[in-house]
Amino acid sequence: MSRPSQGQDVPYLFVNSKLGAEILTHLSSAEIYESLDNGSVSVIKINPLDLSKAQQIIEDTPGLGCGRHKISYGVASAEKRIQSISAMQNWQESKMSFTMLNNTIDQQSLVNPMLNDISSSHLLNLNLGLSAFRSRYFQTNSGVSGMKWIYYHWRSMTIHRNDVQVQLFEHSWPQPSVLLKLEGSDPNLPGIVLGAHGDSTNEDKLDFAPGADDDGSGVASHTEVLRLMMENNFKPKRSIYFFAYSAEEAGLLGSDEIAMRFKGLNIPLKGVLQSDMIIYKNPNTPKIIYLISDFTDVAQNSFMVDLINTYVGVSWAYMKCTYACSDHASWNDLGYPSSFPFESGPNLNDSNPNIHTINDTMSFLNNSYDHGIHFVKLALAYAVEMSNK
Ligand code: BES
Ligand code: ZN
Repeated sequence: MSRPSQGQDVPYLFVNSKLGAEILTHLSSAEIYESLDNGSVSVIKINPLDLSKAQQIIEDTPGLGCGRHKISYGVASAEKRIQSISAMQNWQESKMSFTMLNNTIDQQSLVNPMLNDISSSHLLNLNLGLSAFRSRYFQTNSGVSGMKWIYYHWRSMTIHRNDVQVQLFEHSWPQPSVLLKLEGSDPNLPGIVLGAHGDSTNEDKLDFAPGADDDGSGVASHTEVLRLMMENNFKPKRSIYFFAYSAEEAGLLGSDEIAMRFKGLNIPLKGVLQSDMIIYKNPNTPKIIYLISDFTDVAQNSFMVDLINTYVGVSWAYMKCTYACSDHASWNDLGYPSSFPFESGPNLNDSNPNIHTINDTMSFLNNSYDHGIHFVKLALAYAVEMSNK
């Protein structure tokens, strides 16, 4: 956002809808010019003299001050960007549907025995470990320790396997991400990613942030998938990457860097699964799997539906996050097919009321572990079916 004003050309801000609302509230000169991608991107026209105020709002809005917002100067340039966003959206949807068309379900003999071994006490214990850190905020010492804890845990689970590497992935801020690679027997085939964010936050940045549901639950779920793979001596055909991302709560920073590194190194991926908040069940709404339908891949989402029907046996529905609300968006932005099954809906405010507070704890999730198990089943079925053909 540091580009200087281009003379008196009118600036058009391309921002997500949440940030758009923030700018419209605080800048009297701001007006909405167009809304794109089913309302998730707002194009906002402002007075050139208000540009630095707008940039300040973007930087000050928690979690949204990262580099994914764009400015066009002058109406012609704004129109060009609008055209390219709309065109790319169509192109992405049709291309991705095409590449995924022949995905079948044929690994039942491997998946079913592993599904029977899923254990809620493992899920619970892992999450107890994670939520015991004072905070896993990306700029705190305990946030760094939390990631190292995941690193040592994943290493100890896989130390006997010479096809597994675990590493801390360093960023320009203190907290690393954790990367585990289970190498496929055919390492040239596109691999898959199971991702969750290891960091946590409190609205009051330095306060306690146990982050049991957001997102200890996602890390615990992927760790359980890894445990089952190790105990069943699973050796996939394609490589499987497990990620605990740093700094999701600061604006998807860790996953953004990692996805860009993959793109830069030309590492092909068949698909990405994000697990973020998978245990809480809202007592007043249907206990089903909500598949986030925006910033995700249409064709892979419909494969998720097949997996739910085959292996999980619960109802499901689509819902929108309306903005780039978790790490799936970092991959989706770069064209990697990505999906995000979510714990509660059908509206965003049906979700866990305690996230980003001191009360996002294990005890608040006490009665919900059976709900979490549905998501572990889905992740396991996804990982085996996607990676083994
Ligand atoms: N897990 C949340 C996202 C979420 C919350 C999805 C509630 C659905 C319902 C995630 O960790 C988060 O807090 N994301 C930020 C945005 C991010 C870009 C900083 C958010 O939603 O404010
Ligand atoms: Zn989260």
